[in-house]
Amino acid sequence: MSDTGPFLRVEGLVAGYRRGLPIVRDLDVHVNRGEIVTIIGPNGAGKSTLLKAVTGLVIVEAGTIALGADNLVGVDPARLGRYGLAYVPQTANIFTSLCVIENLALAGRRCPSAAQRRVEAMLDLFPVLAERRNVRAGALSGGQRQVLAIAMALIAEPQIILMDEPTAGLSPIASQEVLSMIREIAAGGVSVLLVEQNAKMALGISDRAYILADGQNQHEGPAGDMLDDPVVAEIYLGGKRRGAA
Ligand SMILES: Nc1ncnc2c1ncn2[C@@H]1O[C@H](COP(=O)(O)OP(=O)(O)OP(=O)(O)O)[C@@H](O)[C@H]1O
Ligand SMILES: [Mg+2]
Repeated sequence: MSDTGPFLRVEGLVAGYRRGLPIVRDLDVHVNRGEIVTIIGPNGAGKSTLLKAVTGLVIVEAGTIALGADNLVGVDPARLGRYGLAYVPQTANIFTSLCVIENLALAGRRCPSAAQRRVEAMLDLFPVLAERRNVRAGALSGGQRQVLAIAMALIAEPQIILMDEPTAGLSPIASQEVLSMIREIAAGGVSVLLVEQNAKMALGISDRAYILADGQNQHEGPAGDMLDDPVVAEIYLGGKRRGAA
């Protein structure tokens, strides 16, 4: 396979939890290098299932999942770091009984030769984690937990990071902070595939977006166009267009 075109390429994906009962059906999604692509859609649309298919956690019945020149279908999820892919799941993405520095050290085991250097780099990048390095992760605020989960994903220097609703349960200010941080991560050359309920805010930092409904692609395009599309705004963005009060 050649390494041209989109970095992550999902084509004709059929995937789910039981063979013969697909949740995601004939889905096409791609992410270019350094791009932030957001998946939005109603509850149960199959957004998390898509990310789980890319990370080898559900059954893929048909389709292509390629990262650069590598085929990801059938790859052991524990080995995805070697392909340059990191995943921040929707829940249980940190060890709440361990302190911040222990969480980072555990994540560092994915890159043993550089672990100490990478943990230090994360503490430099996220001062909020450095300040709370000895605090139990379960005692962090919701926003700080997400920062920790993202730092753990970044430890192994991924080329693409998949994030499932990183702003879930956060205040609007904390959500904006997390999304701005994601923008900065992408500015550093990392591709991001983001699932978000917080559609308007997420589109604000994204390059492109897909709307999923009932396991299928309903709409795709540049994020800015979606923000300005009255039909999309009406159905998916709370009925208000950008600039509306
Ligand atoms: N572990 C599971 N076993 C069987 N079915 C599941 C499982 N997890 C999710 N589903 C089903 O798959 C469908 C899609 O779920 P998914 O979690 O992908 O939706 P989602 O778009 O991420 O929704 P949300 O916005 O609520 O997170 C739903 O009908 C759900 O009931
Ligand atoms: Mg979900």
